[in-house]
Amino acid sequence: MNNFFFGIYPYIALSVLIFGSIARYERDPFTWKSSSSQLLRRRQLRLGSVLFHVGVLTIFFGHLFGLLTPLWIIDALGISHSAKQVLAMAVGGIAGVMALVGGGILFHRRWTDPRIRKTSSVADIGILGLLLAQLVLGVSTIFASAQHLDGHEMVKFMHWAQGILTFRSGAAAQIADVSLIFKLHIVLGLTIFLLFPFTRLVHMLSVPLRYFWRPGYQVVRSRRSAPLPAHSDAEIKQARVAAAKSRQRPQPAE
Ligand code: HEM
Repeated sequence: MNNFFFGIYPYIALSVLIFGSIARYERDPFTWKSSSSQLLRRRQLRLGSVLFHVGVLTIFFGHLFGLLTPLWIIDALGISHSAKQVLAMAVGGIAGVMALVGGGILFHRRWTDPRIRKTSSVADIGILGLLLAQLVLGVSTIFASAQHLDGHEMVKFMHWAQGILTFRSGAAAQIADVSLIFKLHIVLGLTIFLLFPFTRLVHMLSVPLRYFWRPGYQVVRSRRSAPLPAHSDAEIKQARVAAAKSRQRPQPAE
């Protein structure tokens, strides 16, 4: 049982996540969106969405750093296991509560506004419910972690996660004896990975980073009072060719 959930299920979930996302992108590119409902009840959306996204993104990068940084790097940086454990609990705890409050607002808005509910699919409401359940489990792990402030439990999770990603055999055995709350949290986390390609979570893979360095443009209103004289097709073509040629002409060296 332990071997299935923590040795085999992670590969099933990660395979569905990767290949399912590729297949959805290829087959249904027009469904690849966040399906925003911002036209409705905007103020509640803004507060809930900011709290939820800041919290979840902090947790995401926290998990990435916390679980996947090789132990020798943590040791080389002089970060004690105990300090790392306390940092995970403090930062993860604050971010977890933020995401929980934000997610709660979003869930309430989606569930109680008849217009938003009507435009929500089962997957929209379901995935938000699962994320909230995952946050409750995650925040509850803090009480279990508080029993192991020396960080030795956390080191087991690091060995497990890194063992899975590097296809090391026996990874599941690393966490065979951890508390049940951690196991439930990990299995639900993997299930969220598995469901990812079938939900609006796919919008995470399309962060519009290009937006930040796209070339700027300016819309200028003409002050002309009369319309420009009509040009023939031949004149327009001639002007285009001239413009293209002037663009190609090498600039004189300075
Ligand atoms: C497969 C995916 C996941 C794995 C393997 C995982 C694993 C863990 C582990 C091992 C801890 C305990 C860290 C420690 O104190 O030593 C933890 C804590 C936590 N997790 Fe996750 N988690 C996953 C996904 C998620 C997701 C999707 C969320 C939120 C939506 C989440 C939210 C939290 C929170 C709030 C905590 C408590 C604060 C902390 O210790 O960082 N986790 N998780």
